[in-house]
Parts: sequence; C-alpha cells; structure tokens
Amino acid sequence: MTIIIETQGLTRLFKQNRAVDSLDLAIQPGELFGLVGPDGAGKTTTLRLLAGLLYISDGSATVAGYNLRTQPESIKPQIGYMAQEFSLYAKLSVLENLNFFAELYNVSKAEQKERTERLLAFAGLTEFKERRAVHLSGGMQKKLALACTLIHQPPILLLDEPTTGVDPVSRREFWNILTELHLDGTTIIVSTPYMDEADRCSRVGLMYAGKLMICDSPQSIRRQIEGDLIEIFPEDWQAAHQIVSSLPGVLEVQTYGEALHLLVDDGEHQLPKIEQALEEQGILIHGARLAPTRMEEAFISLIRRIESEAEEQH
Ligand SMILES: Nc1ncnc2c1ncn2[C@@H]1O[C@H](COP(=O)(O)OP(=O)(O)O)[C@@H](O)[C@H]1O
Ligand SMILES: [Mg+2]
Repeated sequence: MTIIIETQGLTRLFKQNRAVDSLDLAIQPGELFGLVGPDGAGKTTTLRLLAGLLYISDGSATVAGYNLRTQPESIKPQIGYMAQEFSLYAKLSVLENLNFFAELYNVSKAEQKERTERLLAFAGLTEFKERRAVHLSGGMQKKLALACTLIHQPPILLLDEPTTGVDPVSRREFWNILTELHLDGTTIIVSTPYMDEADRCSRVGLMYAGKLMICDSPQSIRRQIEGDLIEIFPEDWQAAHQIVSSLPGVLEVQTYGEALHLLVDDGEHQLPKIEQALEEQGILIHGARLAPTRMEEAFISLIRRIESEAEEQH
C-alpha cells in the first residue's frame, strides 16, 4: 500500500496551546479525505502544516515523498492549497487572477493558455473572465480560488472549508468539481463543517482539541452510533425535549432547529410510544417519523461521548 501523505506525532504549538497534537495520519493516493471537527479543533493548522506554511513543533511528516521539515520547498509544486479566507486579488479580473497564479508557479506560456481555458470552463467562469474577483458571487469566488490552486496541476489538494458560507447550489457545483478531480486521481484533503459533505468523502477524520479522534469511512462512522433515529416536529420543542429525554428506550436527544432527533433502541417499537407520551402531556406534534441516521447525528453523538469522557477525567 502506497502512502502519499504521512504524519507521525505531528504537533504544532501556539505558546502552550497544542493546536495539533500528536497527529498520525496516512493518506493513500487518490483519497478524498474529509477533515471535520468543531471550530478550533485544529483543521486549519493541520492543513497549513501539510502545505509547508507553518513550522512543525514536534513529530514528522512526509508529503509526496518529501520530508516536511527538511524539504518544504520541494513539496510546494506537489500541492494546491486553498485557504479558508478570501485569497484572491480582489481588484484583478478572473483571468488576471489565473495568470497571476500561473506565473507564481512557473507555468509555461503555452500551457498557461490551454489550462486557463480548461479551468475557466471547468469552473463555469468562462463568461465571467473579465469580471473583477471582488464582484463575483461567493460561490464563484470559491470556484475561482480552486481554479487558481489547480493551475500548476498539483497531484495533491489541501482545501480548507472551501464551501463555508456558500449557497447550496454553488456548494453542490463545487462538490461536483471535487468529485471529478477525485475520479481523475487527485488526492484531496478537504475540511468542512457540513456533514453532508463529509458523507461524500472516501474517508473522514474527526478532529477534536488538536487530536484525531476517529478516522474511518462514512459508512463505518454512521454504524458506530447505537440505535434507530426518530425525527419529531413538536409545537414546543423544549417541553417535548424534557419529556422524551426521560422515556425508556430513548438513548439520546439532539436538537435541530425546532425538530428533535431521538436515538432510540428500537424505532418501530418506540415511535408510537413516543407519540402517545407526548399526546398525554398535551404536546402537539406536527409530525414524527423513522429516518435513516446520517453523519450529522453520528458526529454529535461522538463529540458528546468525547466531551463527557474528557469531563470525567477532570
Ligand atoms: N496563528 C495562531 N496563533 C495562535 N493560536 C492559533 C493560531 N492559529 C490557530 N491557533 C489556535 O489553534 C487552535 C486550532 O485552530 P485552527 O487550526 O484554526 O482550528 P479549526 O480550523 O479547526 O477551526 C485554536 O485554539 C486556535 O485558537
Ligand atoms: Mg479553520
């Protein structure tokens, strides 16, 4: 089994804060690896370390066969790094931004022309090529930023929350592009706060307080949560929450806006009982149904478990 990115005990401190703490990671060529975790978990720091943009405090890493400590400059041509924040030249046009990155990476003039045309079409930006980056929609800015990271055709992509704050349609378009790159064999590590996106990855790593807590396929992660899922839509979710939490067979209650997601031991069996219990307490519900468990429930459940274990240790 070949490995294209490998870290051993990779650690980055900011003063006393272990932003990335003893990370062991092995990514195979062609993986579409999702990095998820709450704000401050260490996702950005991990990606910046792998991009050679930050010094390593401890441990080691190799990217495309190069040692991150001793050969960071050799790694640069191998990776395309897309930062979480806006990274384009606002006053330059779409085309000028692409040209800028092409020159930065020493792409030859002949290749530049061919690649620029292809990437513009790929990102759906051909008709906007003269528009200044600042005047593009959020989704188009993200696609342009991705196109700029692809101009030197890196085999590895490190994308830091590329779809955060982007509308759902653009988000889907962006993922269609990622899927194409993935099918072409590009190795991709992408961080995301969106669990439906994590579900599209071949493997997902959950970071928490600088550590990689779980690293598995979406299917296996979903299988880790116990029980069946029942969604209910009560008139008064707070009152309903209190009632259902104390019912036998209800393992966990999660809040999604005004809906409640209940993990129960046996969905078929518990659904009518829950409806009945709420009715008896005078809680009106607009609907209740069995639903398949998603990554979202799995992650909330796992993070809760991790947090309660951390509390017990204190
Ligand atoms: N440049 C920095 N200086 C000091 N602390 C930082 C810096 N960058 C990140 N951190 C800290 O490191 C931890 C991890 O941050 P980050 O990698 O940005 O997490 P995430 O991307 O998962 O939100 C946080 O506690 C954050 O405050
Ligand atoms: Mg971040």
